[in-house]
Amino acid sequence: MINLPRISDLPVINKRVLVRVDLNAPLDGDRVADDSRLRACLPTLIDLIKRKARVICVSHLGRPKGQVVPALSLGPVAARLAELLSAALGEPEFELKLSSEVIGDGSRRLIRDMEPGDLVVLENLRFDPGEKANDVDFAIALAENIDIYVNDAFGTAHRAHASTSGVLSHVASVAIGPLIERELSVLDRIRHDPDTPYIAVLGGAKVSDKIEVIQSLMTQVQGIAIGGAMANTFLAANGFDIGMSLVEVDQVNIAKHIMDVAGRKNITLALPADVLCASSVDATESITVDVAEVPQDMMILDIGPKTILNIQNVLRSAETVFWNGPMGVFENPLFAAGTTAVAKMIAAIDAYSVVGGGDSLAAVVQAGLADKMSHCSTGGGASLTYLEGKELVALSALKAAADL
Ligand code: 3PG
Repeated sequence: MINLPRISDLPVINKRVLVRVDLNAPLDGDRVADDSRLRACLPTLIDLIKRKARVICVSHLGRPKGQVVPALSLGPVAARLAELLSAALGEPEFELKLSSEVIGDGSRRLIRDMEPGDLVVLENLRFDPGEKANDVDFAIALAENIDIYVNDAFGTAHRAHASTSGVLSHVASVAIGPLIERELSVLDRIRHDPDTPYIAVLGGAKVSDKIEVIQSLMTQVQGIAIGGAMANTFLAANGFDIGMSLVEVDQVNIAKHIMDVAGRKNITLALPADVLCASSVDATESITVDVAEVPQDMMILDIGPKTILNIQNVLRSAETVFWNGPMGVFENPLFAAGTTAVAKMIAAIDAYSVVGGGDSLAAVVQAGLADKMSHCSTGGGASLTYLEGKELVALSALKAAADL
């Protein structure tokens, strides 16, 4: 694992500790629809509270494009975090303060008045254009009066923003938190020393988003099952006429190349054999057909039962499984069966199973199977970047700041 200073090694009592976490959770109106990411950073926050640090928590939520978007306020997230902290600390109501601004006099005052063991959450970092621009003045303002900076936001470890990169030059002491430590140790295990057979299940909309990870996985895995809209490009490369389905025409040759390499390396490539089709993603009715029989006026929106069985066969002997990306448009319950079936299959086998963030994690949580996986990563893009063998820019910046 990359050598980085850890917060567990630093004395934090009375210190003002700025903790970058990833509280980018899906909202349903003014409530948190899935609190997995909040739960994942609880141990870090609880440890700092118990060690009597003054904890200043920062995160982004969604993509508000540098403007204040009330629907993306961290208010509901902070309220849920307070509930989780109260339950975990055994306090009837843990008093967490939410600053209504990111930086400014109000935040400054809240931070100044903190007692050891207090926790303040600043408003959505991305309400300020300085966050994504990695602006120096914004980074300096975040670092004001801070003694220690901790990055425990694995989900944004592939982003060089002010709160993950710029801020590092302006604090005396920097470290990673336990969530990032765990994520790296799990991903290192499957990257460098996976038990075999190692099977990857990849879905989602675009081949172009996954090309690099597919190419790097092909040096390690014995099998890859491909579903989701990105399988369409492979079907088109195999000459199937797939009606109105989403296809990345410019990726067809790459799909051919991947199939060619898989053939030469004896890697099992499980592509859809049958699919669920309908006229639109919002359809209320669908038909199940073999991939050679997709009607001209319909699109593929989920994998079919034969494909599910094929994937089950590929997974049967797996010792390691990595899954990223849904098998269909699972937001519509009509097209959720393939994704749910994959979640159930992976949960049922006796393999080291890692779910790589994003929609696949949402599907696992929705199916109530998160605790049946060996690890559910909190980072979608970050886990793919790491498995591609690329650097995680926020961690490289932290390493440089720590002068290691
Ligand atoms: C995520 O949800 O993958 C992370 O929070 C990063 O979000 P972003 O893709 O908007 O930077």
